[in-house]
Amino acid sequence: MCPKNCDALPTPPQDMISGMQIRKAVVILLLATTQGWLFTDRTSAAQDAGSEAKYGDTVFQPGALWLDDHGAHINAHGGGVLFVPGKTSQGGTYYWFGEHKVGGELGNTAQVGVRVYSSKNLTAWKDEGIALKVTDEANTDLQRGCVLERPKVIYNRKTKKFVMWFHLELAGRAYTAARSGVAVADQVAGPYSYLGSFRPNARVWPLNAPPTSKYPVGPGDEAELKRIQNTGGPYDGYPTNIIYRRDFAGGQMARDMTLFVDEDGRAYHIYASEENGTLHISQLSDDYLRPAGRYVRVFAGSHHEAPALFKANGRYFLFSSHCTGWAPNAGRLAVADSIWGPWQELGNPWKGPEQKSSVSYGTQSTFVLPVEGHPGAFIFMADEWRPKNAIDGRHVWLPISWEKGQPVLEWQDRWDLSVFKKPGFSRGNTAR
Ligand code: GAL
Repeated sequence: MCPKNCDALPTPPQDMISGMQIRKAVVILLLATTQGWLFTDRTSAAQDAGSEAKYGDTVFQPGALWLDDHGAHINAHGGGVLFVPGKTSQGGTYYWFGEHKVGGELGNTAQVGVRVYSSKNLTAWKDEGIALKVTDEANTDLQRGCVLERPKVIYNRKTKKFVMWFHLELAGRAYTAARSGVAVADQVAGPYSYLGSFRPNARVWPLNAPPTSKYPVGPGDEAELKRIQNTGGPYDGYPTNIIYRRDFAGGQMARDMTLFVDEDGRAYHIYASEENGTLHISQLSDDYLRPAGRYVRVFAGSHHEAPALFKANGRYFLFSSHCTGWAPNAGRLAVADSIWGPWQELGNPWKGPEQKSSVSYGTQSTFVLPVEGHPGAFIFMADEWRPKNAIDGRHVWLPISWEKGQPVLEWQDRWDLSVFKKPGFSRGNTAR
């Protein structure tokens, strides 16, 4: 079966009169079955697989092919957007950074690097090339074939540098490295210079760890240590309070991630840690290049991925997902009055029929984008992954609406920025 990568069925031959055509039809049927084109449990958002959003369109078409200024589908997956204010009367520009994927399953590893696009209006995106390149040098972090996921870029006003963070897995080592990579540039579109990678917060205890737990693993922890599995997802007996202690000396595991800059200029790295069982929210140093040494554990043992954090009306909201790899699952939403918590889970923010909302319309969150010039307007950005042909992954952007002070996600086939003039679509102060 094919959970996420199912395109439209191939068109069967119209007049099957010759033996050759019959044989061809049988081959197509066999292929269709083995490739999962038939009998799929497709949950895809893009029901019309042929739909295309062309460069110059001013409507968003979630899940459609989204063509850039060269007519190519935008290749920026697991991405995020940075707004750079303009110095001229032309206004500012948005920059969209994401994973450049290639075709086939090879595209689930980094073959090219991080791609960047620019736009004035959020619908028409100009290809700005590769912001950070993988290399052909063996045994280096960015060796082609590594896993480079969910890149995010923020701007540091003090150093005047653009800073990129991403989830890095070393080539040939599957998802075991769980490191954070950092790169820096003077110009927003790069090229970015790679600074290095690490597991964050080595030798630092979480702010919210009870004093009685602030000691590295030792004799007496064997039973708990034995229960640790590296499945990346939940399992019976997941030991909630030991992995951060195991990783105290070498640094905390960091996989799915995002960055968030608060109104006071402080930046935070939010990442899936502890074998994906627990999220960490970790303040960055003033130059945004490393952890500041202050972090909290959030939702210990609840397995969250795909964090996307934003602030509205003085409150912090966090979209995320469950941990089921490329397969979609129910979205998650949480709120807090302080970024340090306590965080309260609010449930699945998706509206609509259970069959679709229970799998987030086939998507997984990646970022929340505050819309310039529309105070309180936010766009939810998500990926519809297609791991069998990674380059074909779709982008799903939806306007966030609000009900009783909580963000809500509702599917729309087509929409434009005028939606934010409608009641229910804007909310209070923003920060990015
Ligand atoms: C997803 C995660 C993606 C990627 C994938 C690999 O859950 O959000 O970024 O890591 O797993 O299976």
